[in-house]
Amino acid sequence: VNYPIIGVFDSGFGGLTVLRALEEQIPQAQFLYIGDTARLPYGSKSRTTIARYAVSSARFLVDQGAQFLVIACNTASALALDAIRASVPVPVLGVIEPGAERARANSATKDVLVLATSATVESQAYSQACHDRGLRAHEKACPLLVPLVEEGWIDHSVTRQVISIYMEELEREARAADLCPDTLVLGCTHYPLLRGLMEQAVKPGIRVIDSAEATAAEAIHCFALEGERGDIPAVRSHFYATDSVEKFRRLGSQFLARELDEVRLVDLGG
Ligand code: DGL
Repeated sequence: VNYPIIGVFDSGFGGLTVLRALEEQIPQAQFLYIGDTARLPYGSKSRTTIARYAVSSARFLVDQGAQFLVIACNTASALALDAIRASVPVPVLGVIEPGAERARANSATKDVLVLATSATVESQAYSQACHDRGLRAHEKACPLLVPLVEEGWIDHSVTRQVISIYMEELEREARAADLCPDTLVLGCTHYPLLRGLMEQAVKPGIRVIDSAEATAAEAIHCFALEGERGDIPAVRSHFYATDSVEKFRRLGSQFLARELDEVRLVDLGG
């Protein structure tokens, strides 16, 4: 083959929002995507478990021929990036740094809010990445949102209500921390699907951003793909999942905004 092969990993199908941006921005690449659906959610698990799961998926992608890896999962990027980098011989990019960089470029007040899973928030990876860029960040865990999206309740009154409660709490916490935020980072693969509802619920003057596009733009740079021309592969992406391929195809098409081609079942152990 004379096109780059980029492996994309997520705990499930949420990372397809990142794949979508990658397919758009890097037309000359082929992608191998694995969703570790059998072991999802990662967002409520410990660092050791998340690292063990993420490393096995990363190794699988490299064994299949991936020359570069994008860790589309915020939780795995926050807690296992070093472990993944240490276990594969290819360049690895996570979503936290590109997301924080986008926040820096967007924020005038230098105060940002981050919504993410419990594990991501506890790791404080976003706060650290924001701090490194001269930003103050307040992070909030929204553990109910992933299951709601998984259930397909994307435009649903219950989801709207849950988001409005989280937003009220978030704004109260930000005021208590004396922050004047103008940017809200969606720090979880599933949240871009709720972007419309988030934008309705957030205070005017706060811009909602996600790391998917920022990560795709950074991938071109990080993997030195600027000058690549080569053939455009006939099949853009190959899909693998560790649990029901049927569910993956059904829900995945919402995240990718198109039908998925064949999804192959993989057993990565327990
Ligand atoms: N992919 C995870 C993330 O971006 C969300 C789903 C999960 O908890 O596994 O944080």
